[in-house]
Amino acid sequence: MTNKQWHDLIEQKMSRRSWLKLSIAAVGAAVAPIPALTGSAAAAPASRTAPPFSAIKAQKTDDLVLPRGYSYNVVRAFGDRITDGENFGYNADYTQFMPINGLDVGFDAKNYNSAFYGKGASSSDGMLVVNHEYVNPMLIYGYTGGTKSQAQIDQERAAVGLSVFRVQKNKNGQWGFADDPMNRRINAWTMAQFTGPAAGSSAVKGSAMAMGSVGNCSGGATPWGTVLTCEENVDEYGTAVDKGGAGWDSAYTKEHQGWVMEVDPYNPSSMPRKHTALGRFRHENVAVVVSSNNKVVAYMGDDKNDSCVYKFVSAGTYDPANREANMRLLESGDLYVADFSTGKWRLLNYDKVEALRTALKADGKTPVFTSQADVLADARTAALAAKGTPVDRPEDIEIHPKTGQVYIALTNNTPHGNFHGQIVRLAEDNNNYEGQDFDWELFAAGGPQSGFSSPDNMIFDPNGNLWMVTDISSSRVGTGIYSFQGNNAMFFFATEGPNAGKAVQFASGPNECEMTGQCWTPDGRTMFLAIQHPGEESPSLDKLSSTWPRINGESYPRPAVVAVNGFKGF
Ligand code: FEO
Ligand code: CA
Ligand code: CA
Ligand code: CA
Repeated sequence: MTNKQWHDLIEQKMSRRSWLKLSIAAVGAAVAPIPALTGSAAAAPASRTAPPFSAIKAQKTDDLVLPRGYSYNVVRAFGDRITDGENFGYNADYTQFMPINGLDVGFDAKNYNSAFYGKGASSSDGMLVVNHEYVNPMLIYGYTGGTKSQAQIDQERAAVGLSVFRVQKNKNGQWGFADDPMNRRINAWTMAQFTGPAAGSSAVKGSAMAMGSVGNCSGGATPWGTVLTCEENVDEYGTAVDKGGAGWDSAYTKEHQGWVMEVDPYNPSSMPRKHTALGRFRHENVAVVVSSNNKVVAYMGDDKNDSCVYKFVSAGTYDPANREANMRLLESGDLYVADFSTGKWRLLNYDKVEALRTALKADGKTPVFTSQADVLADARTAALAAKGTPVDRPEDIEIHPKTGQVYIALTNNTPHGNFHGQIVRLAEDNNNYEGQDFDWELFAAGGPQSGFSSPDNMIFDPNGNLWMVTDISSSRVGTGIYSFQGNNAMFFFATEGPNAGKAVQFASGPNECEMTGQCWTPDGRTMFLAIQHPGEESPSLDKLSSTWPRINGESYPRPAVVAVNGFKGF
C-alpha cells in the first residue's frame, strides 16, 4: 500500500462543506484564554479580527510597501558590523526578538504567541537573533562561474549561520543596532555539539560535534529563552560547483547539517547544540508548545515536495525554575510523523516500529536502518516507511494562541499541479499535544481567487489573527500565473468570524525578494521582518533587478532585517 496522496486528501476535505470536529468553539473551550502580552493587566478582550490597517494592492515596486501610517527602518543589512571583524550575513530568514531582560522576567510557557515573553519583558531593548539561509555569489563578489578561490569560499562561509545582536528603540521610534558583549556570529566554522541518539554515531560520521550551520531557514523560540534554528537546504553545499553546488567540499560534512540547532542568545560563549532527537531532514521551522503535562512538543515541517509534518514530544518535563534542565529537554523524546489520511501520529522509533526494522533498500536485501540513529539521520525515509503522509512542501507551522490549533503552510508542489499552496490547520484530539490522534482541515487555499500564492512564514497576534508572507520563487514572481500577486507579499487573515481565511494584503516586498521571519516585540508595536534575496535574478552586477535598500547612497541590493513601526500594540 502506498502512502495516500496529498491532493486526494485535500480534495476530500475541500468537498466537505464544514468542519466535522474542528470548530473553534469545540477546541477553544478546552483552552484557557491567553492573557494580554504586556501593558494591560486585564484578561484578553474579545478578539479583534478586523485588520488594523487599510489593505494595500498587489504591486511590483522595488521597495517594502506598507499601508498608510506604517513605516520601516533598516536595522542591519548584509555586510554591516555585528562584532569586531564579523558582519551581518546574507539572505536573512528567521528573526526572533529576545527581550534584554528576558532571563529576569522569565518566559511564559503558556503564551506561545511567536515567542514566550514573560510579563514585563522589554519591548524597546533586546537581542535580535537572525539566521542566514544561503548566499548569492554573483551579488556578493561578482561570481560568474568556474572554480571558486579559497577566499571566495571563505567569504561565503562567513556569510551563513546566524547573527545575534543587540537592538534598541531610539526616541524617534526607530530601531538601531548596538554593540554589545553578547553580540556574536555563528558561521560555517562555528562548532556545535550534537545531542541525542545520533550524537557520535556512524550516521554523523562518529562525530560528537558539527562544524558550522548552513541552510538556516525558519526557526522557533523556547519558553526557557533560547532560539531554535532549522537547517533546510543543506544539500546545496559541499558538492562540486559544476554540479550546481557551492564548491565547499574540503571542509563540509553533509551529515552534520540538516538538524535543529539550539542557541542561547543570552550567553555568547555557549556552544550551539544540534538536537538529533528531532530528526534530520530539510528542517523549515519548529513551533514549540508545552503540553498540559509540561512536556515540550515541537511541530516541524520538511520543506521538500512530497515530504512530511513531524512532532517531537520530550521525555522530560518543563520546569520554569530550572533553565539548565530545560536546556536538555530536546535531547530525548519521541519523534512522530503525521498520517493525514487517518489522523494519526506515527512513531519513528526503531525498536518499537517493525516497518522501520524491516524496511529494505532497493536491492531488496539490505536494511535501510540498523538503529535509531539511522532512523533520525534519514527521518524522511523513515517517515514514509512508517506511513507518514507526503504533503505539498510544509513551510512554517504556528500554534494558534487561543484555540491551540496547529497551522501549517504548504507552499506549493508544482509537479502535482498545486501551484499556489494552502494553509491547513490541525487540531489534536482533546487538545492533547502529546496525543496520537488529530483532525485537520483546509484554512485557506492560494490562487487568484484568494489573492495570495505560496504561503511560507507565519506568526499570530494575540487575537489569533495570522500574518503570513509568501514565497513565490524569484524566477516566477510577478509573471504568468503568479502575476496577480505582484511581488512577494504579507497578508493578514482573521481565523474566526465572517472574514476567517480571507487574505488582506499588508505589505509588498522589493523586486525578487521574499519577506521572511516576521516577529513581534512583546508590546506588539514593532514587527521585525527580513527582506531576503532582493534582486536575486539580476543577470550581472551591471544589470541589477533591485537596488533595495538604497541606504548610504548605495544602489545595489542587500538582504536586510527591518523594523516595521506603526502598529498600535496588542
Ligand atoms: Fe527556506 Fe522552506 O524556505
Ligand atoms: Ca521558508
Ligand atoms: Ca513563524
Ligand atoms: Ca520558502
